[in-house]
Amino acid sequence: MTKRAKISVIGAGGNVGASVALWCASKELGDIVAVDIRKDDMLPVDGRMLDLAQCGPMERFDCNITATDDAAAMAGSDVVVITAGLPRKPGMSRDDLIETNVKIVKSVCAGVKAHAPDSIVIIVSNPLDAMVYTAWKATGFDTHRIIGQAGCLDVARFKTFIAMETGYSVEDINALLLGGHGDDMVPLPRFTNIAGIPVTQFISEDRLNEIVERTKKGGGEIVKKMGTSGYLAPALGVVDMVEAIVKDKKRILPCASYCNGEFGVNGLFVGVPTLLGAKGVEKVVPIDLNTDEQKLMDESASHVAELVEVVKQLDPELG
Ligand code: 2OP
Repeated sequence: MTKRAKISVIGAGGNVGASVALWCASKELGDIVAVDIRKDDMLPVDGRMLDLAQCGPMERFDCNITATDDAAAMAGSDVVVITAGLPRKPGMSRDDLIETNVKIVKSVCAGVKAHAPDSIVIIVSNPLDAMVYTAWKATGFDTHRIIGQAGCLDVARFKTFIAMETGYSVEDINALLLGGHGDDMVPLPRFTNIAGIPVTQFISEDRLNEIVERTKKGGGEIVKKMGTSGYLAPALGVVDMVEAIVKDKKRILPCASYCNGEFGVNGLFVGVPTLLGAKGVEKVVPIDLNTDEQKLMDESASHVAELVEVVKQLDPELG
């Protein structure tokens, strides 16, 4: 008999956190601890989680769902998901959130370090790659237990647009995307296929370039339309990662993982193909990039490096 995993979601009163809890429950990935300290500017986390618990008889899931403002409830968590932080508003870039979110992420990480010291931490707060670095420094956890969710979302956007363009099933679309979670992310058409057939056989180069550009700005397109960030697809990106970890699936997912020379990146968390299993990041999976692809990766990584420098300036304790 295996015991249920314990999954804590910080910021679960917000849309991304609540959606992570929803899908973790409906997929029966484990018991859920929904943590949120905010009271005034959002739906109360206890109400949201009670609503979710009442889905159990219909969706047929069994799991315990606890809503709390007490970080100590995270004790013994296998996975902690950090969604806390401000989302974008129209006209803002992810980078505009750095000053506020570095404080929030640092402070919730103190709770993770104190109460869930053996957990694997998945970060969703923006600007993503710099917040993953912040969480690493603030927890002091080994790099294989600190992972950012962005690539799962970004590659899902890329696949969605390819499916919309061709009319083929999203299930048959395989794609790869690297780099930071910014408008300079690196979708890779050369590693993209539909049922194994190169995508270039279905979509012209010009049209594919347009789809790549739309993918890179995919987050902003949603913010413009909704007035705030997307949350369903970002949450499902997290849930794919949680599932890979709690079921030790050994999936290769695009995650913001620590690079120690891989892809020419040193000492930064940035989006790379990552083998995810029970230990968290089990390996960064190398691939051979051509000169153009490597150049795009270098540009994206150097933008992440600049943001990490901003984090260090904002809070020298994170240096
Ligand atoms: C996005 O790209 C929220 O950064 C997230 O939608």
